[in-house]
Amino acid sequence: MVCTQTKCSDDIYENVQNYYGKVLQNTKDLKTSACCTDDKPHKLIREAISKIPQIILSKFYGCGNPIPLGIKGLDILDLGCGSGRDCYIASKLVGPEGTVTGIDMTSEQIDLAIQNAESFTKELKYANNNMKFVKGHIEYLEKAGIKEESVDIVISNCVVNLSPDKEKVLQGVFKSLKRGGEFYFSDIYCDRRLPENVRQHKLLFGECISGALYKNDFIRLCHKVGFTDPRVLSEREVTIEDEDLKNITGEARFYSITYRLFKLDNLETLCEDYGQVAIYKGNIEGCESSYRLDDHHVFETNRPVLVCGNSSSMVGESWLSPYFTIIGSRQVHYGQFDCSNVETQSSQSNTKSSCC
Ligand SMILES: C[S@@+](CC[C@H](N)C(=O)[O-])C[C@H]1O[C@@H](n2cnc3c(N)ncnc32)[C@H](O)[C@@H]1O
Repeated sequence: MVCTQTKCSDDIYENVQNYYGKVLQNTKDLKTSACCTDDKPHKLIREAISKIPQIILSKFYGCGNPIPLGIKGLDILDLGCGSGRDCYIASKLVGPEGTVTGIDMTSEQIDLAIQNAESFTKELKYANNNMKFVKGHIEYLEKAGIKEESVDIVISNCVVNLSPDKEKVLQGVFKSLKRGGEFYFSDIYCDRRLPENVRQHKLLFGECISGALYKNDFIRLCHKVGFTDPRVLSEREVTIEDEDLKNITGEARFYSITYRLFKLDNLETLCEDYGQVAIYKGNIEGCESSYRLDDHHVFETNRPVLVCGNSSSMVGESWLSPYFTIIGSRQVHYGQFDCSNVETQSSQSNTKSSCC
């Protein structure tokens, strides 16, 4: 039977709203480790979490920690904010001059975020509540009141896989970001394209498994939308302990990946060498000794690092630019950049800790 895009979308929305609004009461009800996070967040994030009401934390279903440090004063948008844990963390990190907007379609979840926001920001001693929550779909950001080029950083935690139209979500994110802004998010990906019977499985869909994109298809989608050089920040394998569910997914392997997608005009599909050097100034609060851009770039404070043109733009022309000095421009091209060298350099200082 052929079903129209709208009908399929409605079915998916209904299944997901039912799962997160009614079936799950708290994190303990989850059947897989997809919507869980086992890495220890940074101290500043743990401090923020310690101030968040327990009811919000008990309904956290994220798969990572997609909240960057150094975001004071910025405008943040959280796609699929659920009960709002990450918005509350971001509210503390951006401070009273920054803003945080959360969007979610499930009333039972977003209502909790709304109910507790005022008292949370009062406790932080902010003159005004810097959080806003909108009930809506992440495929329709404009309808939810998000203007073009109005957001510095879009975050999202284990949500995009649940969307029936992931391309539309990425397009909307790209549009809503300011130039130099970033989509910094965690989601579930797969090592292959999943067969129809897995994709249609309602419980596995709710658990963020069935909607997982094949990693390479996600990269293709990024290129299509304009996020030319997606960078992986961290990756962990997700486990399915339930034997019946495991039987359905077979040999497919699932990963929770935190990606960084920068909106910059001059990113290239391959790394190119312009002889540029980036120096991290050590001025991000909580990241005084080093800064991690991705899984193969850790910048030690004040240590010059030879970088490709893309990495240079990511740290020198994005919201990160106050924290880096760039030496050199793109005037002279020296050929393709040898990324393997960068990997060797940084893997020596590549700790799996909650480094920035
Ligand atoms: C796995 S939970 C994660 C919630 C939250 N990010 C967290 O970390 O706790 C997925 C959330 O995404 C929301 N969601 C899924 N698809 C959505 C869509 N298309 N539009 C808006 N919200 C959506 C669900 O309502 C649910 O609250």
